[in-house]
Amino acid sequence: MKRLRWLLRPLSPSPSLSLALLIGACAPAAPVAPPPAGTGPTLGQLADAGEKVFARACASCHGETGQGITGPPVIGQNAHLELFNTAQGLLDYVGGLMPLYTPGSLPKEEYVQIVAFLLLQNKYAAAGAAFDSNKLSQISLAR
Ligand code: HEC
Repeated sequence: MKRLRWLLRPLSPSPSLSLALLIGACAPAAPVAPPPAGTGPTLGQLADAGEKVFARACASCHGETGQGITGPPVIGQNAHLELFNTAQGLLDYVGGLMPLYTPGSLPKEEYVQIVAFLLLQNKYAAAGAAFDSNKLSQISLAR
């Protein structure tokens, strides 16, 4: 029955999420120290790219703000990413089963970007954090 819970709630995004997005959109860009030379891009950089991929490939079912439409919420307090235990588990699920009717159709790097976007939006990590796609199993999704 777990799958039905999100169908039974109103379709509007949570007020706190809307507010967070609004504040995020209006806030001046925070100065973020670039990662040390030799390390990869920051979570925020990947998430920026992931936001565009999400809008193109996922938002039709999961909503522009990830609030859920025909697919369950993936951003905000109604999202249950903790089901995947770690960011690697989330990547495996999304990369293997999403988008629903064309699973695995995106390049691997785009799936990583989407995971970065979901991690940032769900506040599992900060935008300035270094992001190593080989260490996703170390990022816990526990709430
Ligand atoms: C055609 C509609 C559709 C598209 C497009 C789609 N999804 Fe889904 N997604 C679903 C449905 C329906 C489920 C629920 C599947 C289930 O419970 O077995 C789901 C489940 C999920 C879940 C698990 C959520 C949970 O709480 O169980 C995640 C994460 C997810 N999708 C991410 C994505 C991402 C990222 C994309 C874009 C790459 C995407 N989806 C594209 C319909 C879609």
